[in-house]
Amino acid sequence: MNIKSKFQYAQQFFRKTHLLNFVEYIDYLFSVVGSFKRNSSFVKRHPDFTLPPRHLAYDAYSAPDWEFYKESGEESAVYLRDVMLQYSGSGPADSVLEWGCGPGRIIRHLPEFCGETTAYFGTDYNGETIKWCSSNISGINFSVNNLNPPLSFASGNFDFIYAISVFTHLSEPVGLKWIEELHRLLKPNGVLLITLKGDNYHDRLLPDEKVTYDSAGIVVRGNVTEGKKMFATFHNPKYVREKLLSKFQILNHITEHSPLSEQDTWIAKKTGL
Ligand SMILES: C[S@@+](CC[C@H](N)C(=O)[O-])C[C@H]1O[C@@H](n2cnc3c(N)ncnc32)[C@H](O)[C@@H]1O
Repeated sequence: MNIKSKFQYAQQFFRKTHLLNFVEYIDYLFSVVGSFKRNSSFVKRHPDFTLPPRHLAYDAYSAPDWEFYKESGEESAVYLRDVMLQYSGSGPADSVLEWGCGPGRIIRHLPEFCGETTAYFGTDYNGETIKWCSSNISGINFSVNNLNPPLSFASGNFDFIYAISVFTHLSEPVGLKWIEELHRLLKPNGVLLITLKGDNYHDRLLPDEKVTYDSAGIVVRGNVTEGKKMFATFHNPKYVREKLLSKFQILNHITEHSPLSEQDTWIAKKTGL
């Protein structure tokens, strides 16, 4: 058994015995200690760059690492600008939503990289992270949502909606409700970008999970709070085409790592009504 498989079996054991949250907390402490020097150096070099509490950064992407928070956020904003230019037509968007924005890693950079005439909205179901965003990031409208939809926006409100690694933490019924909601919120011809764990993660699945991935198209690792990082969901591209994004026209499916994530990136359009 290789080291990757051992790790997956260990995770399954802790998940089944409800010890995963405890193991995650220990991992958080190690990561805080491990990144202490790098983070201190970052703060000296960027004294004016506002940083979220470490536990909120860890909650969103396991990395209370400020270099990563700033650089990957900026690179992702540039990537999203290019996606909008390529798929959303000419001119700046009127309205953009990041659903599941966490502590603002990406959305905080959009006004600078994507234009200040667009209205930007960020939502998340973690009230603490939205409270921090609202008090520390200007130029964006932040709000909290529930685990289940809806959001409080009118139908057809957004030109572009993106969600980075959010469906990857939801059960199938909740994910299907959200895709319906994001479809409602987009303007006709509006563009959706989501990231999902697809075939690149196949070798991390346990044997019985591989069978489910190949047959049912979706694997859900629960036994922890839904929406949290350790609640992990994997989507077979066939399932995405036939079920999750069936109401959309798929514009692109990118399987190479992008600045957004090492996950698959799906870009899709709400077809005109
Ligand atoms: C892996 S983190 C990614 C954060 C952010 N998108 C980024 O890339 O920096 C997943 C985020 O989705 C949020 N989330 C999970 N379930 C959600 C839901 N039902 N509605 C909104 N946000 C949710 C979590 O609170 C967390 O901030």
